[in-house]
Amino acid sequence: MAQEPVSKPFWRRAFPLDLHEESRYSRREFARFLAVVSAGFTVGIGYLWGRKRPLEGAPGEGARHEPVPLEGAAELKAGESKLFTFRDADDRCILLRTHEGKLRAYRQTCTHLGCAVRFDGKRLECPCHMGFFEPDRGFPVQGPPTRPLAGIALEVGPDGSVRAVGDLAKPTEGGDA
Ligand code: FES
Repeated sequence: MAQEPVSKPFWRRAFPLDLHEESRYSRREFARFLAVVSAGFTVGIGYLWGRKRPLEGAPGEGARHEPVPLEGAAELKAGESKLFTFRDADDRCILLRTHEGKLRAYRQTCTHLGCAVRFDGKRLECPCHMGFFEPDRGFPVQGPPTRPLAGIALEVGPDGSVRAVGDLAKPTEGGDA
């Protein structure tokens, strides 16, 4: 390959396109390039959205899943929590007991940018951007999140054992608890 003469300025060496060659790149080719790049972005965003939504529980709202027994749930004291996985090993959830003594379970996925939330005994907190959710229904109360956490439906058997059985519908402000 022939060496560029060093006398040419840097920008000429960095962009070695001669003016008489510009006509080789038509508007149509440029438009095609833009269309391919846009299609790539659209497919990529669609893929990420498809992966994200099931973890937030949106498409499966109200859906039942294979029940998962939650060992030690009945022994949780007010302000305590424990982690579990639900639909698969990546579906990380948190079970907690509120100060009113209610058992609640949520996906750990923060509805802001997806970090894992944890229970500080009073509120669910997301350490990434200091987002907070109240523990009774999962509504955001502070920080950047604007949507509630995805709730998990629990069932208590006659023997007091607790099982995770499905996705709760997203709560609405003022709706039933
Ligand atoms: S990811 Fe949870 S507050 Fe930003």
